[in-house]
Amino acid sequence: MYHEKITIAIDGFSSSGKSTMAKDLAKEIGYIYIDSGAMYRAVTLYCLENNLFTSDDSIDMHALKQQIDNIRISFRFNPTTQKPDTYLNDINVEKEIRGMDVSEKVSFVSTLDFVRKAMVAQQQEMGKKKGIVMDGRDIGTAVFPNAELKIFVTASPETRAQRRYNELHEKGQSVSYEEILENVKKRDYIDQTRDIDPLKQAEDALLLDNSHLSIQEQKAWLMEQYNKVVNS
Ligand code: DC
Repeated sequence: MYHEKITIAIDGFSSSGKSTMAKDLAKEIGYIYIDSGAMYRAVTLYCLENNLFTSDDSIDMHALKQQIDNIRISFRFNPTTQKPDTYLNDINVEKEIRGMDVSEKVSFVSTLDFVRKAMVAQQQEMGKKKGIVMDGRDIGTAVFPNAELKIFVTASPETRAQRRYNELHEKGQSVSYEEILENVKKRDYIDQTRDIDPLKQAEDALLLDNSHLSIQEQKAWLMEQYNKVVNS
């Protein structure tokens, strides 16, 4: 059956499993998948690599502002992992952007208005033709306020910290559960209280608490919501 392509916005807390859901749905329905968090992570990596963090953990705003338009982020499908990898100025940084040093600093970088402006513009460009599933914090509220399907995903901080712990340990990175839980809570706070486009549920978003759902159950739920929209 032929359907008009739609825009799907999936927002939620860090490590809520929204990326897995979004990625699986995109694959199933043949849409583009964009992980907007990876873009803020790539900007943070750029700052680390170019020594833009100052000794007090702040940032050299002047330098970053001057360089922001030279930070190009793109995604390329990796046939081995069957997932898109993140590229920063044409270099694959998928592994580097997931480490703790980037996780520690990314929330701060994502509070900067000129960084958000640049990323939102790149994201809107990527979604111009619809047929896209994008996940993040402000996709349903700021990036694609007219998205036909909006989902807001949540789960307890402990559940999310455990998921991140498993993920990092699978990749061979040794970080304690306590350290991760603290990072998750700190990021929740910064994400929800920042001035520009804070994490919040859009009025027309559907809420999904997946603390007690398996990946398969989430997948089925999301597919059902997608089918409802395209068949309505
Ligand atoms: O989803 P994630 O944990 O990879 O996101 C990394 C950080 O980027 C997170 O702390 C909040 C920020 N972010 C944002 O501000 N807006 C988005 N659309 C996506 C992520």
